[in-house]
Amino acid sequence: MSSGNIVGIVLAAGLGKRMKSKLHKVLHPVCGKPMVSHVLGALEGAGVRRIVVVVGHGAEEVRAALGGRAEFAMQERQLGTGHAVRAAEALLAGEEGLAVVACGDSPLLRAETLSGMIALHRERGAAATVLTAVVDDPGGLGRIVRGADGAVERIVEAKDASEEERNIREINAGTYVFDLRLLFEALARVKNENRQGEYYLTDVVSILREEGRPVLGYRAADPAEAFGVNDRAELAEAERLMRRRINREHMMNGVTIVDPETTYIDADVSIGRDTVVHPGTMLRGGTRIGEGCVIGPQCDITDSEVADGAAVRHSVLNGAVVGARTTVGPFAYLRPGTRLGEDVKIGDFVETKNAWIGDGSKVSHLAYVGDARIGRNVNFGCGAITVNYDGYSKSETIVEDDAFIGSNVNLVAPVRIGRGAFVVAGSTITKDVGEDDMAVARERQTNKPGYAKTLRARLIARKMNRT
Ligand code: UD1
Ligand code: CA
Repeated sequence: MSSGNIVGIVLAAGLGKRMKSKLHKVLHPVCGKPMVSHVLGALEGAGVRRIVVVVGHGAEEVRAALGGRAEFAMQERQLGTGHAVRAAEALLAGEEGLAVVACGDSPLLRAETLSGMIALHRERGAAATVLTAVVDDPGGLGRIVRGADGAVERIVEAKDASEEERNIREINAGTYVFDLRLLFEALARVKNENRQGEYYLTDVVSILREEGRPVLGYRAADPAEAFGVNDRAELAEAERLMRRRINREHMMNGVTIVDPETTYIDADVSIGRDTVVHPGTMLRGGTRIGEGCVIGPQCDITDSEVADGAAVRHSVLNGAVVGARTTVGPFAYLRPGTRLGEDVKIGDFVETKNAWIGDGSKVSHLAYVGDARIGRNVNFGCGAITVNYDGYSKSETIVEDDAFIGSNVNLVAPVRIGRGAFVVAGSTITKDVGEDDMAVARERQTNKPGYAKTLRARLIARKMNRT
């Protein structure tokens, strides 16, 4: 292997007892992605070529969630972080170069930070480089003990620390760069003589120092990167920190976020310049928003695509595609398979599902369009619906270009409305309508002159008799 080789080891075998969850700790999502996926992303971003995830509890779930992105080493019993790293040794037997070790429960770790650590480590020819952070409340974290010359001497766990050591505010973030070969040599010498009876990875630091090898501390610019999640309160805190980071990045890229505190954007969402995101909006999964859009207030958009210049207000979208300059809402519900063309209007209380709606068409209010192919410049009237389900199977409705569907029309599928056809309001359509034809399917109206008075007199008399 070349000297530029870097492998990654991600620790994720612990039980995560304090989460009180059936879901493995590292699989809990932060901004829409499992914590451990964020960690893998940081490693990949820093050029780590091969990643071994150490699994134990919930191994199958972790494996299933990460699939081909990593290899897996089993740690049957959780005897400490040093023991966990050793579990990866056999898989990495042929490797040389650097090993980045990180914890699966530290989702805020960034690729840039790892790259900085790796660069410093190489420049100084270090044996180990430890990510540290200076925090106000170091709590149960490992403390960085530096010598008189400022060099890192060792890491002491809070439980093993003297009173004086416990006052140290520089902590071990749990992320390291090691010379791979030196790491495993030192790990073989780690003992479990400490308060927890565990094999500590952190003891590698003092072992390397005793051998006279250089160990560096790399201070994270943002202490949030050291943040590890152990319970649901910390999960919410990680989410908040990540949310701020994501929102800030979008704003720096030219997106207006009116109120970042109430705007929830998942890690993989993209948003174009000059789009304005109003409060109370959630953009989730793989959602992609174009340039110059207006999104929100109060939108919940998942795995959807919104093209340039579109506007979506007070609406829920899931698996929908919205064309350029199209407007949606308020109060629309676009379900999977919805594909709206350009300059479409979807108004209030409209639901769509598996529906293609062509350029310039309008579904302005109170309508359901399901399993339908609607052409261009179609007007789909207020209260009109596709009757797509007979209780057993779904059928398709086709409405060709320039057709007019009047208010309160039922289109009983399967049915086709031809180009330019006109369907009269209140019709229940069960047969195809030809091009440029008019269809009416309702009772003819009869008016009885003056009869309203007679009717009222009769109704009053009936009420009197009852009381
Ligand atoms: C560890 C560090 C501590 C550091 C902190 C940062 C040690 C001894 N201490 O402490 O200095 O400040 O991380 O968060 O390393 N794990 C396994 N197998 C095991 C034990 C742990 O895979 O046998 C995994 C856990 O799932 C977790 C990670 O290693 O992802 C860290 O373990 P944890 O028990 O949380 O370590 P801390 O005591 O927090
Ligand atoms: Ca921890």
